[in-house]
Amino acid sequence: MKTRITELFAIEHPIIQGGMHFVGLAELASAVSNAGGLGIITGLTQRTPELLAKEIARCRDMTDKPFGVNLTFLPSVKPPDYPGYVRAIIEGGVKIVETAGNNPQKWLPALREHGIKVIHKCTSVRHALKAESIGCDAASVDGFECGGHPGEDDIPNMILLPRAAEELKIPFVASGGMADARSLVASLALGADGMNMGTRFIATKEAPVHENVKQALLAATELDTRLIMRPLRNTERVLQNPAVDRLLMKERELGGNIKFEDILPEVAGVYPAIMQRGEMEAGAWSCGMVAGLIHDIPSCKELIDRIMVEAKELIRGRLARLL
Ligand SMILES: Cc1cc2nc3c(=O)[nH]c(=O)nc-3n(C[C@H](O)[C@H](O)[C@H](O)COP(=O)(O)O)c2cc1C
Repeated sequence: MKTRITELFAIEHPIIQGGMHFVGLAELASAVSNAGGLGIITGLTQRTPELLAKEIARCRDMTDKPFGVNLTFLPSVKPPDYPGYVRAIIEGGVKIVETAGNNPQKWLPALREHGIKVIHKCTSVRHALKAESIGCDAASVDGFECGGHPGEDDIPNMILLPRAAEELKIPFVASGGMADARSLVASLALGADGMNMGTRFIATKEAPVHENVKQALLAATELDTRLIMRPLRNTERVLQNPAVDRLLMKERELGGNIKFEDILPEVAGVYPAIMQRGEMEAGAWSCGMVAGLIHDIPSCKELIDRIMVEAKELIRGRLARLL
């Protein structure tokens, strides 16, 4: 299948694996890229730029296909060494960067000077238009369904994607709630040039996370995610568990007076415990409503091949027959 996204990134299938903290390591990114999609290493999971450089080198050993690096720009008192991470990306010869969070404008000249294509993750049409205006090559449009940070507008993809298609000139992928061939064909019908999946890629053989995480996704339904940190305007969709219930109770009790420090035990530094050690109640972890559509743990190649075969069947079969 050829779309503006497969052309832009020189990939076979219009399927991207979004950056995921403590999930987007070289094992997953290379498996997705080897399967013809675009795998992405999560930059900030590597504690230092030097470690990111090593992770990029490890990924290159595992694939000769294009892969990208995610750089998430978060508001923080003590920001990570972003110039160092950008240098590691450039020196590592990576040609695709997925940016997310704050406006990436400051970093675009350096990236573009080295021929790096930038896809910015946006949760609203206005942010996507901003990304276009500052020179991003593509957008990843993340609907309210998504795992992680859906923003504060709460617009689901059934509306957000056609709105993005109405306004954007740059190519964009549909993100949030994507799991299978139906997601891909629907995304294309709504005007997107491909799709980005997060949660679905965690339940794959190559995802380098504890088996408990994969089993939690198999057990979860579409009813099992919760929105946390809404009062802090840093909303995150996570899988419900006792730590999340505790956090939500604090939000109810403290109301508008809540501060980030109040919920630190439930959110700060919990990813290694969950993703690596499988301590599923250690804290809150991002998860999409799409968990309800995850029923197996295929390899990335099995997953992507299945999506592409079934997408063609859907388009040539079911949809064509309706005419
Ligand atoms: C466990 C997990 C961790 C994530 N970490 C990040 C991150 O560090 N940076 C980022 O830009 N997006 C992150 N995301 C968001 C994904 O890249 C993607 O946009 C989102 O998962 C899409 O929604 P879906 O889960 O419904 O497919 C994360 C998502 C999950 C599920």
